Amino acid sequence: MYNKAVKQYLEYLKITGIQDIFIKPPKQINKTELLKDLEQNYNNCKKCILHKERNKFCYGNGNADARLLIIGEGPGAEEDRLGKVFVGRSGQLLTKMLSAIKLSREDVYIANIVKCRPPENRNPLPDEKSACLPYLEEQISIIQPEFILIIGKVAAVTLLEIDQTLKAFREKTYNFRGIKTYVSYHPSALLRNPSWKKLAWIDLQKLQKDYFQQ
Ligand code: URA
Repeated sequence: MYNKAVKQYLEYLKITGIQDIFIKPPKQINKTELLKDLEQNYNNCKKCILHKERNKFCYGNGNADARLLIIGEGPGAEEDRLGKVFVGRSGQLLTKMLSAIKLSREDVYIANIVKCRPPENRNPLPDEKSACLPYLEEQISIIQPEFILIIGKVAAVTLLEIDQTLKAFREKTYNFRGIKTYVSYHPSALLRNPSWKKLAWIDLQKLQKDYFQQ
């Protein structure tokens, strides 16, 4: 409807002798700036009780133009101290896992289901997850990654809304909001159970194959 009216108007301009029109190009969205502004807006969030014990709100870090978004569960002690995601021991392992498939932290964006640390690193509760999920949904719609890697069962159950084992999750890929999505082990599970690293490597290789179109 709108396009038809525009077309008619352009034809009218042509008939009346106007040959050139200048259209201002749409302003490019700067995703980095946008995420930075949103983080500032939200970092005093008090939507759930997790704000009471947090030191820092951990919004997410990385490349806002990333092709790959990694989603974990929630910040731990080191993340809570620094306000950055995956900077503790599991973060160091995650960095190594990425480099094994020729990706760096600068290539990817990383966020969690909840942005504040659950006390004693317990699993986030349903009302904490539902209060926080709109932040992640918004991050996904801004970044628009080509691939998502969900790490750990808690994040997988929350996002994919299927209650099954991690083993079952790993068997296939998912279409989450139109984005090809993989599920694999959380690095903290790999630190506890190093024998699972070979299974995580199988998952990472599948992702690498798609990412680099090998
Ligand atoms: N575990 C997570 O799930 N997220 C972090 O940011 C750190 C540890």
